[in-house]
This record gives sequence, C-alpha cells and structure tokens, in this order.
Amino acid sequence: MSEDINKVQSLYSGPDGNSPFRGLGGLLRENIKNLTPYSSARDEYQGEASVFLDANENAFGSPLDQQFNRYPDPLQYQLKKRITEIKGVPPRNIFIGNGSDEAIDILFRSFCNPGVDNVIIVPPTYGMYQVSANINDVEARKVLLTDDYQLNLEGIAEAIDKNTKLIFICSPNNPTGNSINRADVETLLANFNGLVIVDEAYINFSRQKTFIQELTEYANLVVLQTLSKAWGLAGLRVGMAFASEEIIEVMNKVKPPYNVNEASQQLALEALANVDQINAWIRETLLQRDRLVLELKNFDFVLDIYPSDANFILVKTTDANSIYNFLVGKGIIIRNRSKVELCEGCLRITVGTPDENITLLETLQNFK
Ligand SMILES: Cc1ncc(COP(=O)(O)O)c(C=O)c1O
Repeated sequence: MSEDINKVQSLYSGPDGNSPFRGLGGLLRENIKNLTPYSSARDEYQGEASVFLDANENAFGSPLDQQFNRYPDPLQYQLKKRITEIKGVPPRNIFIGNGSDEAIDILFRSFCNPGVDNVIIVPPTYGMYQVSANINDVEARKVLLTDDYQLNLEGIAEAIDKNTKLIFICSPNNPTGNSINRADVETLLANFNGLVIVDEAYINFSRQKTFIQELTEYANLVVLQTLSKAWGLAGLRVGMAFASEEIIEVMNKVKPPYNVNEASQQLALEALANVDQINAWIRETLLQRDRLVLELKNFDFVLDIYPSDANFILVKTTDANSIYNFLVGKGIIIRNRSKVELCEGCLRITVGTPDENITLLETLQNFK
C-alpha cells in the first residue's frame, strides 16, 4: 500500500510531497470568476416589512390551504441551521441543491471549460457523473475500479493532466455497494491539484466514517450527501454539498436563485426533527440487508454477493437477464446492471421492507 502511494505521488505534479492544491484561482472558469450573480428581490432586501411589492409575486395568496405565493429563501438558512446542528458543519460550508444531482452539475459548470477540461470518474459508479460531463461537453476519463472495486491509484495518476479539474469518488459506491479505502481517497486529496468530490449518498448505512470531518484538513474536498436515501425524502429533491467557504460561495453564485422550493425547505426541516425514526429505519434496513444476503446465498443461480455498506446489494448471478425479466413479470423491479463494466451478470437489489423482501425471496423460489 505505502509503496503504491510513493509510486503515485511521483506521478503527480505536486512539489516536495506537499499538497499541490493552490486554491480555486487556477481552477475556476474565467467566466465564473468574473460572474455577477443574479440579485433577487430577497437578496436586495432581507429585513422585515409589512408590505412586500418587490418580487412581482401574487399578493393575494395561493389557491391552496398552505401559502406558497412568496419566493423561498434563496440560501435556505433555516434548513442549513438544522443541518449544522446534525452534521456539525457551519452554514457557510453548506450548499443545498435540488438533489445532489444539482450540486454535481454545478461543479461541472463552475470548474470545467466545455471542450477543454476533463474529469476523472471510476466506473462502475453512479451514472450521473458521466451524464453531467456529457451535458457540459466535458471529457470524463474513465479509470476502472480494480477487481475488488477499489481505486486504481496509478491509473488515476496517469489519466490526470493539466486540464483535469475534478475527480468523482462515490463511497459507499453505487452500484457495487462497498466503501472505497479511506487512505486511497486521502492520497488523492493530498496529491491532486483539483477538487476531489466524495459522494456519500449512502453514508448513513455505512460502517465507515464520513469525510465531512476532513474538510478542515483538505481545501480541495467536496462531500456530497442527500436526503433522498436514508432520510426518505427522494421526492423532495434536497441534496447537500459540504466544502470550503470559497467553494460554497462559487456554487451559490452559479446556482439558480431559488433552487430549493419552499415546500421542500419546510418539509425537509420538519423531517430533520425525526432523527430517531431515521436511525430506527437504518438499523432495520441493515438487519434486512443481512437477512437478504443470507437467504439469497441459498439460490444456485447466485454466484456471489458483494459486501455492502449501503441500502442495496450487488448480486452476481448465472443469468441476470432471465432473473430480471422473470421478476418484472411478477411485478418486482430490481436493477439489471449486467451490462455495466465489471458487473457482468450482476443485479442490484434495494433492501425493501420485511414484507417486500419476503415477497422477493418467495418469488425467486419459483425461478427455474
Ligand atoms: C451515489 C449517488 N449520488 C447521488 C444520487 C442522487 O441523489 P439526489 O436524489 O440527491 O439527487 C444518487 C441517486 O441514486 C446516488 O446513487
């Protein structure tokens, strides 16, 4: 391992083994550096008043019981305050997006010059990094994970050039379910002069520590989390990025002014009061995951089940397509990942409620 790190360090351009990251100056797109962000009515006047006639809203109200006629807080201050209480990160280090997918897109738009810059992705991994790269006309250089779904540090070092702005690491990784070795991510953080994005969408299910506590150590770290998974709020679209104040300021400048709607802000705030409920569901999900793994091992079409730190498992089978189609025919939908590199024959199964898991297992008994 340490030998590996030495080899890798020699391939990066950093001076004397010190971090080569030199702040955002050289990383930011020139047009973003010079951007004057949109100034909303609520940016221009933030105090109390009895009459607000500054935002062309409907002053009469909304045709609903609940009133949504006013624009939401552009910087979601109440929500951030609550997230600060839970995560211990100050509001100035938090960006809230319309899902963490929005944060991913904003990172591309802020740092990557279309047609010029590139990013590193490490498949098999979450598909949106590639899609966001394509949308933004940015090359995504693929460095496959190793056979045990860990980082190929040497391959990453070789893929990096002077136009590499971002490296996306998903841990626990989707679709493989495992966590990425912490020391390897730290090697990247310490030796790469761009941003390392650690996507922790599934961190609440993991035995590993979050990277949030490393934010004070690494100025080039961005941690993504979401309320879509353990928090059970996928429909509200609320995702978070945690990073240096400098990075968060850029993301806030680039985002649409009212990117998180009022209903989502209010409901997310309400949900974040229910930590005990979420912890109970996480414990139940982990029990159910272990049970699913045990039971699935008994089927002869199951060749392997990969260790999972998430709320899903990746299962290698003899015939993924037939099993997938059989389950669809029975009204049970899982994810067929068999066409994904390094996931040949694999199905990804989300852990369901106890009843759903029993239905899945009983149905599979009938697969021939
Ligand atoms: C690794 C990973 N990151 C991000 C997301 C998207 O999260 P959000 O719903 O916050 O956009 C997903 C959704 O499946 C995911 O698997």
